Amino acid sequence: MKEVKSFIINSALDMHLHLRDDDMLKLVGPKTSQSFAGALIMPNLAPPITTKEALLSYKKRIKEACKDDDFEAHVTIFFQVDYSYEFLKDLKDEIIAVKLYPFGVTTNSETGVSSMDVEILRPTLESMEKLGIPLCVHGETKGFVMDREKEFLPIYESLAIHFPDLKIVMEHISSKESIELLEKYDNLYATITVHHLMLTLDDVAGGMLNPHAFCKPIVKRPDDRESLLELALSAHPKVMFGSDSAPHQKNAKECHHGAAGVFTSAIALQVLTELFEKYGNLDNLNSFVSLNAQRIYGLKPIKKPIKLIKKDFEVPKSYRYKDEIVVPLFAGQTLSWSIE
Ligand code: NCD
Ligand code: ZN
Repeated sequence: MKEVKSFIINSALDMHLHLRDDDMLKLVGPKTSQSFAGALIMPNLAPPITTKEALLSYKKRIKEACKDDDFEAHVTIFFQVDYSYEFLKDLKDEIIAVKLYPFGVTTNSETGVSSMDVEILRPTLESMEKLGIPLCVHGETKGFVMDREKEFLPIYESLAIHFPDLKIVMEHISSKESIELLEKYDNLYATITVHHLMLTLDDVAGGMLNPHAFCKPIVKRPDDRESLLELALSAHPKVMFGSDSAPHQKNAKECHHGAAGVFTSAIALQVLTELFEKYGNLDNLNSFVSLNAQRIYGLKPIKKPIKLIKKDFEVPKSYRYKDEIVVPLFAGQTLSWSIE
């Protein structure tokens, strides 16, 4: 077989991204906009985005931070049980989706929903269903850390049954049981991250502790990783790339009470190319990182071909802007693909 030396990704899309705000946004924004044509931006700022005013001004700040690149930020708002139909109708053209966080399951989710009872969620979800606004979900309970996603599956199932016309995206799936459910209901979709394709719990806590690989949902067992890998490498039509790149200050990760979130924006396309090449699935990479998302969300991204070349890329030990320092996943390691 002829060795592949370069590969073009057309209009890469990251369908789950945390860009944060202020100097952190200025640091990490360009790390995505340099190579991606667009991204779905998460609303879990502190405080989360729940008003039109906050949404529009955040959009402006993102634009400003990424102004050197052609890049479309598809913003979302933070799910609330009391969003009216009129409020959502007014915002429909400004947002790509609404993101639902159960209370307290991850970073900045203290104002998330305190009950996942369908009847409590119904008013907002029915309005979204009528308006054709997709729902993105952080699907975890507060149970034992390795079982949180599995325990949430009945809730996904009940949402899928009660709101058949609502597009529901199971974000950052991490366990093999989620895949069975994804296949079962037409209105369920999923995103997969780089770290859930690359790591298991051993990489976080099997040897020396690696706080930079600690995230919610926690990376799991080898068989979970293999099942996710199969799904991504085959570019399953209901699955999209969503990095869940979630930067935190170096100090907030390397400490007692370390924050959850893995920063991968700057390495994602290189790692994915390496992975898809290794398994002989490069032909599916454009579907996984762009075409599936275009079809699922009805997007027409800007044309932005990115050339990956087979050349060593040494991942920086950290990235810095003013006082903000962020350590990427695989810091200091060498990847075999670079962006030209
Ligand atoms: C994310 C963050 O830091 O905002 N953290 C994470 O571990 N993934 C939130 C999230 O997506 O859960
Ligand atoms: Zn996230």
